[in-house]
Amino acid sequence: MCGIVGYFGIKEAQTILIDGLRKLEYRGYDSAGVAIIDNGVLNVTKCKGRLANLEAELLETPLKGTVGIGHTRWATHGKPSDENSHPHTNEKGTISVVHNGIIENYIHLREWLMAKGYKFVSETDTEVVPHLIDFYYKGNIVEAVKKATAKMEGSYAIAVLCSDEPDKLIAVRKDSPLIVGLGENEFYVASDIPAVLNHTREVYLLEDNEFVVISNDGIKLEDIEGDIINKEVFHVTWDAAAAEKGGYEHFMIKEIHEQPKAIRDTMTSRIVLGQPITLDDINITKEQIKKLDKIYIVACGTAYHAGAVGKYVIEKLARIPVELDIASEFKYRDPIIDKNTLMIVISQSGETADTMSALRLAKEKGARVIAVTNVVGSAASREADDVLYTWAGPEIAVASTKAYATQLIAMYIIALFFAQNKETLSMDKIEEIKAAMLELPEKAEEMLKDKETIQKFTAKTYMHKDMFFIGRGLDYAVALEGSLKLKEVSYIHSDAYAAGELKHGAIALMEEGTIVIALATQEELFGKMVSNMRELSTRGAKVYAFAPKGHTEIEKSVHAVTYVPKVLDILAPVISVIPLQLLAYYMAIQKGCDVDKPRNLAKSVTVE
Ligand code: G6P
Repeated sequence: MCGIVGYFGIKEAQTILIDGLRKLEYRGYDSAGVAIIDNGVLNVTKCKGRLANLEAELLETPLKGTVGIGHTRWATHGKPSDENSHPHTNEKGTISVVHNGIIENYIHLREWLMAKGYKFVSETDTEVVPHLIDFYYKGNIVEAVKKATAKMEGSYAIAVLCSDEPDKLIAVRKDSPLIVGLGENEFYVASDIPAVLNHTREVYLLEDNEFVVISNDGIKLEDIEGDIINKEVFHVTWDAAAAEKGGYEHFMIKEIHEQPKAIRDTMTSRIVLGQPITLDDINITKEQIKKLDKIYIVACGTAYHAGAVGKYVIEKLARIPVELDIASEFKYRDPIIDKNTLMIVISQSGETADTMSALRLAKEKGARVIAVTNVVGSAASREADDVLYTWAGPEIAVASTKAYATQLIAMYIIALFFAQNKETLSMDKIEEIKAAMLELPEKAEEMLKDKETIQKFTAKTYMHKDMFFIGRGLDYAVALEGSLKLKEVSYIHSDAYAAGELKHGAIALMEEGTIVIALATQEELFGKMVSNMRELSTRGAKVYAFAPKGHTEIEKSVHAVTYVPKVLDILAPVISVIPLQLLAYYMAIQKGCDVDKPRNLAKSVTVE
């Protein structure tokens, strides 16, 4: 989620590091910083906010030197602040580290180091790393880094400098990306290829636990035992813009493909088989949960649609009544709120103005608020009583995709957490749902493989001016999101209907060739959905159905079917939304729309 860079060479490092960080800002922009060695002294400049803030500081007081490391942050542990910015250093300021990833055992390591007299100045997990290296440093920085990494659990790509050995730059990765750029008498390390493309196209793609040691003697790749690793040089042929998107043409399609990982990350350490669900930043007690008489879920846009799924699953699993509200409407209807009310706000950015006013109103009236947000340190995370972070990573495309998937996961986690505390479900049932959740990343991968069917569909239908999405139960909630996605990025007018409601009006719009996207993933409602589809087909509509694998009988009632991997009914939205996101994306591409930045829309709506 963060971006790291390093430079070792003959030119001034500052400009090269900033240039690299600019290419990595898509990985996060909560803060930025650099550390550069000048005549055996390690100088660090870092500050909260966009890279431009760091650039302004460096313009005033430039850092000299030809060996340096840099970082652009997407906050996970600790709010965006100067102190929490990277690089982090040991107390003497002789060892400096930039890190991308999460050190999962950092609390243990922090306590262990504190007991040995180490002082910490930030709230980050990363700060344990320079202290740990310091602890092991006995005159050989490579050995000290190796000993430190042997203690670290979790994921990391780190780059390390030590002013006692100013002619060395060390880097290593485990479960976080890291590449090395090979220049002439100069070397680069970075989280991603775009950061080095202005300087070289020859790179090493590092694997886990490969240590990079750059010195005046050149570059060495070695394992923890010191054995040399021989690696082929990879020649980059893509242009910088494409590489930034990981080879994808647009951020939206990249983010659609990142969903299996985002889903997995959001479940990490929360959904573990055989262990009760414990949630780090949620302090609501069992007694408080038992006393809740009503929950409001309040959100805007895609987050509101995740709330529609949330309402359904919380009511079904935890048996607490849930009202779902559009944030911009909430405060104008004088909602009934007291201390036994819980509000859940869902917001990718954690900054949406209407969502924030709803949160503040609820707090004023004495309700407890849980914020489900993707951005650490956002207004929602700071002002709510409890926070559940979605670990989707930075979402760049305006149309939300992977954040939605993780918001759904957050809804399941909260529903199960309440069910566990209220004992509305047996432990066996909870374990069964958890096991099914853990299979979701794999099922999402499977769904993503089927994109050709969707591409073919869009090639035939992109000239249509209107489309309809229908579903029942949870499929209706997903239909709402599918319809929003389509209109946002392709500008095709679309509406979503609860399938049973069609006969009360919308069926009048059906004529020869009308396109209807019908979701039929819910076993209990399958028969009724098939009847609704037949009613529309009879009136000339071309119905494209999405149904679970194995339900071939649907083929007789519709124009075409796409089969989706079978999962538990309540989890189906996580999978069935994927083809709808792809559908919106390919429609927009067919029509030549600016898919990542649709007209008139903004990623974060900070005005009411
Ligand atoms: C805007 C974005 C949507 C997003 C909505 C709510 O409309 O374009 O993608 O769903 O705001 O944003 P939030 O950050 O509160 O989830």
